[in-house]
Amino acid sequence: MSKVKVALIGVGNCASAFVQGLQYYGKQTESCVGLRNPQLGGLTTRDIQVVAAFDVDKRKVGKDLAEAIFAAPNNAPKVADVPATGVTVQKGSLLDGVGECTRSIVQISGAADVNVAEALRSSGAEVAVNLLPSGAVEASRWYAAQALAAGCAFVNATPNFVASDAAWAKRFEDAGLPVAGDDLVDQVGSTALHKTLLKLLSMNGVRIAETYQLDVGGGTESLDTLDRSRDAKRAIKTQSVAASLPYKAEVVAGSTDYVDFLQNKRDSYFWISGSYFCNAPMRIDLKFSTVDAPNAGSVLFDVVRAMKVALEKKQKGAVLPVCVYAFKRPPQLVPLETAEEMFTRFIKENAGH
Ligand SMILES: NC(=O)c1ccc[n+]([C@@H]2O[C@H](COP(=O)([O-])OP(=O)(O)OC[C@H]3O[C@@H](n4cnc5c(N)ncnc54)[C@H](O)[C@@H]3O)[C@@H](O)[C@H]2O)c1
Repeated sequence: MSKVKVALIGVGNCASAFVQGLQYYGKQTESCVGLRNPQLGGLTTRDIQVVAAFDVDKRKVGKDLAEAIFAAPNNAPKVADVPATGVTVQKGSLLDGVGECTRSIVQISGAADVNVAEALRSSGAEVAVNLLPSGAVEASRWYAAQALAAGCAFVNATPNFVASDAAWAKRFEDAGLPVAGDDLVDQVGSTALHKTLLKLLSMNGVRIAETYQLDVGGGTESLDTLDRSRDAKRAIKTQSVAASLPYKAEVVAGSTDYVDFLQNKRDSYFWISGSYFCNAPMRIDLKFSTVDAPNAGSVLFDVVRAMKVALEKKQKGAVLPVCVYAFKRPPQLVPLETAEEMFTRFIKENAGH
């Protein structure tokens, strides 16, 4: 299979981790520690190529992607020196990309908007990856429409509804293009950890009465979430976590606050309370710390390669095995093991034939 040509919509922290990851793993000859799938569908990370990028911040627009990923307000850690990529960040349309809360952090460029569909087409992009802030509801759909017009597959990492919205999935189906989303899962994810803990406990006969999982982060995205999409994110996470219990319990899961000095770090707090044999009480009170942007890297590498497989096989509409494997809000929720199984089967059956 030829290289996967990717366009990045939003050159924020996740894009930084993605581009640095390509450089980091591109250099490795043997060890791919940290990658879930060094090879997927016959493709390695060396087969992923970024061919276009869009942003609205004046510190990024007009710059080579290698420079833009390290521009403020990005604060994902630097793990690789990235040589010039030859990809210049182009000015996309702002729409609702920047909220009131982040207007003091993002410096909006005065450059003219490019024709995004045309830019996608002329770059040869095959997969457009939406990495806009989570509150960018309108902009996310606008870029999805640009991908449709350009004939690109679309990956929606944001919690906005595209792949899980039947009407949007149908638009992709009608255009003969694949779409995957919504809201990317993390490699070391608090939602997956929460679900696994609850499943293990309930499987052993523990009756969970109450549980919550709350996050504190310092990336621009945490501030945007606090301001604009906290309720949507909380609904997605809560629904996903609650689905891991075979009975009803008090469940709350979702991002909560922004602490600037944490930079790109995220602290997640878990509380689980329940009872077991003869009503004996049990409690779990746990703190879990990660760095946010790298948490998206391995999953995004898997998704873009899987979308290449989908394109080669002329899959259209929401690609369910990719959605359930890599997203918190797929069109249909399935247990973690089923998602894994569906994805593995999809790659096995469709790659290299
Ligand atoms: N581990 C993770 O970081 C993770 C996991 C799951 C989902 N996500 C989702 O991925 C998305 C990106 O996260 P991030 O941390 O990189 O965010 P970020 O705020 O660092 O980056 C967003 C970028 O989009 C740019 N932008 C804003 N409006 C734009 C527009 N109209 N056109 C083009 N560019 C625009 C901003 O200038 C910024 O560079 C979020 O929606 C987040 O919820 C991230």
